[in-house]
Amino acid sequence: MKLELRGITKNFGALVANDHIELAVEPGEIHCLLGENGAGKSTLMNILYGLYQADSGEILLDGVAQHFAGPGDAMRAGIGMVHQHFMLIPVFTVAENVMLGHEQSKAGFLDLSAARAKVREISARFGFHVDPDALIEDLPVGVQQRVEIIKALSRDAKVLVFDEPTAVLTPQETDELMVIMKQLKESGTAIVFITHKLREVREVADRITVMRLGKVVGEAEPTATNAELASLMVGRSVELTVTKSTAVTGEHALVVEGLSVIDAHGQVAVDDVSFEVRAGEILAIAGVQGNGQTELTEALLGIQNRVTGTITLDGKNLRDLPINEILEAGVGFIPEDRQDDALIAEFTIAENLMLDRADGAPFVKGGALQLKYLAEFATEKVREFDVRTQGIGTMVGRLSGGNQQKVVLARELSRDLRLFVAAQPTRGLDVGSIEFVHERIVATRDSGVPVIVVSTELDEVVALADRIAVMYRGKFVGIVPGNTSREVLGLMMAGEVPAGTEVAA
Ligand SMILES: Nc1ncnc2c1ncn2[C@@H]1O[C@H](COP(=O)(O)OP(=O)(O)OP(=O)(O)O)[C@@H](O)[C@H]1O
Ligand SMILES: [Mg+2]
Repeated sequence: MKLELRGITKNFGALVANDHIELAVEPGEIHCLLGENGAGKSTLMNILYGLYQADSGEILLDGVAQHFAGPGDAMRAGIGMVHQHFMLIPVFTVAENVMLGHEQSKAGFLDLSAARAKVREISARFGFHVDPDALIEDLPVGVQQRVEIIKALSRDAKVLVFDEPTAVLTPQETDELMVIMKQLKESGTAIVFITHKLREVREVADRITVMRLGKVVGEAEPTATNAELASLMVGRSVELTVTKSTAVTGEHALVVEGLSVIDAHGQVAVDDVSFEVRAGEILAIAGVQGNGQTELTEALLGIQNRVTGTITLDGKNLRDLPINEILEAGVGFIPEDRQDDALIAEFTIAENLMLDRADGAPFVKGGALQLKYLAEFATEKVREFDVRTQGIGTMVGRLSGGNQQKVVLARELSRDLRLFVAAQPTRGLDVGSIEFVHERIVATRDSGVPVIVVSTELDEVVALADRIAVMYRGKFVGIVPGNTSREVLGLMMAGEVPAGTEVAA
């Protein structure tokens, strides 16, 4: 089925999120939609999926104009969408989840055996290996995403939208998704693929449309270089590699000894890990998602319950302190899930920028909130971090994904830091913003702060790290220099230490 969007315009108040957008996607084509944070990509796709109504413009499927009052209409017309935050019910099985969505649909089947058969049939067709009776909560994210795809295909989606599907996937899951997208394309599906990762674009795109500030600003060939794509996206040239001097380390340090964490399921998530991060250096923790990195950072921040071992900052104990005391000790934290752990969607940008800091100067004096100070502070941070918004009174939940992340970064990097712990700091950010955030992290290091960066992106690890700890199944496989080759890191991420590698651990 051919998709055409003609003259789509959408305003949010005074903001023009989509300005006369034209986009055509042929059956059997993977069309990449690129653009900086806040460019209007998700808005456009939400209109196509019936979640938002356009102010003007038309959606055509095989030349016929469509009117979608809600996602139900869009699905019936053959549009499927795989959201970044999955819409699955964790305590239900795969087949139950696939069946659920059908209740309102015409083609629906309400019995479980039909749903199971459908899951098996689609799984077999695309080699998904998804068990219809598995509980969603027991499945890795990559497999959950396949369930979303199965859901869409079970309703005969002929146009499939993927909005940043790879942000939460491991490199291997990403490769597998690329294969799946190519198979779908072969079977005639029209695909819209939104991503900030240029390597993925190069791998699967047939055509590329670039958006900026609500407008289509150009098309690019899949053969375009990273630098060309990056400058089309952000309207200027982007430094794709970080420049940093050799680390100059100081005495002040975070020292962790024999740290173990038992997770909520009673499993050993972090298994006897010891390391030190000195003032002025960046220790990157690399590894495939789910090898204990999350629990390790959460233990440092006092948000894991069953922790043993010692954690000291400048010789002072941090373990088992309440989180507010840890923050007061000068620990800045970027959690991996910004929506759940770092922001309050219904609060304004200004309010989110002072979260956890409401108990004293400079935001509160003599019990009174310093509104003028807060407004100036927030305005300055929005400018400095280039948060694309209409104003500091905007609710954070209304910001685009990447701009929400910038609010978290702005808050955490504005405090007087003694230690900075950043998990997936650039997840969802466009190339221009990544450049900026990397510069800020290096500047934080250079100001004499020990920095821990947890990242599943090898590009990011290699760009930032002075030393790299590779984590596998709760343990550090080893700590290696920042210039260790990707091949060696890749092997270490699978738990092996290649002969001849010097590790300090
Ligand atoms: N419900 C809403 N109310 C008000 N403004 C909104 C709403 N949804 C989106 N916006 C604004 O519309 C603009 C486009 O946002 P959109 O989410 O489409 O960007 P995006 O291209 O998907 O960016 P990202 O790469 O960060 O995900 C942003 O300025 C955003 O703040
Ligand atoms: Mg988006």
